[in-house]
Amino acid sequence: MKMRGFHQKILLMVMVVVAGVRGEEGGGFVTWANKYYVTWGHQPLVLNETSELQLTLDHTSGSRFESYSIYGSGSFNMRIKAPQTKSTGVITSFYIKSKSSRPDEFSFQILGSNGPPYLLNTNMFLYGEGDKDQRFRLWFDPTKDYHSYKFLWNPHQLVFYVDDTPIRVYRKNPGIYYPSVQTMFIMGSVQNRSKIDPKQTPYIAKFQASKLEGCVTTFLGIEKCTGPTFWWNRKENWQLSSREQKLYTNARKVYLDYDYCSDRKRYPKVPQECKSYS
Ligand SMILES: *[C@@H]1O[C@H](CO)[C@@H](O)[C@H](O)[C@H]1NC(C)=O
Ligand SMILES: *[C@@H]1O[C@H](CO)[C@@H](O)[C@H](O)[C@H]1NC(C)=O
Repeated sequence: MKMRGFHQKILLMVMVVVAGVRGEEGGGFVTWANKYYVTWGHQPLVLNETSELQLTLDHTSGSRFESYSIYGSGSFNMRIKAPQTKSTGVITSFYIKSKSSRPDEFSFQILGSNGPPYLLNTNMFLYGEGDKDQRFRLWFDPTKDYHSYKFLWNPHQLVFYVDDTPIRVYRKNPGIYYPSVQTMFIMGSVQNRSKIDPKQTPYIAKFQASKLEGCVTTFLGIEKCTGPTFWWNRKENWQLSSREQKLYTNARKVYLDYDYCSDRKRYPKVPQECKSYS
């Protein structure tokens, strides 16, 4: 426990430094409800100033945006339409990430392919450690319509939802790291993770910030975001409802394609935090 306190102090120091650097950045920003700016690649096209953004990937670059706001808890629902049908090598991501040398991160990654079925990867970084993939076969075509990809993040549980179906749940567990010590930023991107077909470019991903409800705070101010004044922190959101539990059990049974927790080749010993998935 002593050790943990020491690490947290270091972490806070590092976070302050990162925050300082960020304050000096300038230029290249887009306005999307004055809340987001581009951090890499093509300038996004704002389809609707209040809610809709289009990101482009071509042979020169992809595109990534980030929120100005810093969050300490929340319910973040992004509606996404992934690029066109033939999209091998394209990856469309929506994620929540802290800025520190040991970041926490939760991500949805829609993996392009040559046609349906499409895979949705989810990943987490916990205190800087990643490679915690859980992958699902999507039960719809994510390139045809908008679908919801949502994180519910409070001090008790982190839930990944796809169209209101919980597919991944990480719960606070005594003695196991839980990501509610670092503040986070909202990010989205489209990029290539392998060779893409030049005949298919440009690839266009569309993001609708449909219901991003979060506790906006300062870089080191996560404490003010933990209380029940925010609906997503209230007791009924400390665990899945019985209806959600059924959807969750079914989704895991029918659509789960890969889970690092059961990959004994990659992890001969079950990673400690796997206990925290309910
Ligand atoms: C932008 O989106 C909002 C919310 O969906 C909608 O009410 C508004 O009419 C849209 N504006 C335009 C110019 O399409
Ligand atoms: C996409 O990424 C891979 C490596 O990850 C690279 O070899 C390739 O040239 C990139 N670009 C295109 C346009 O395919």
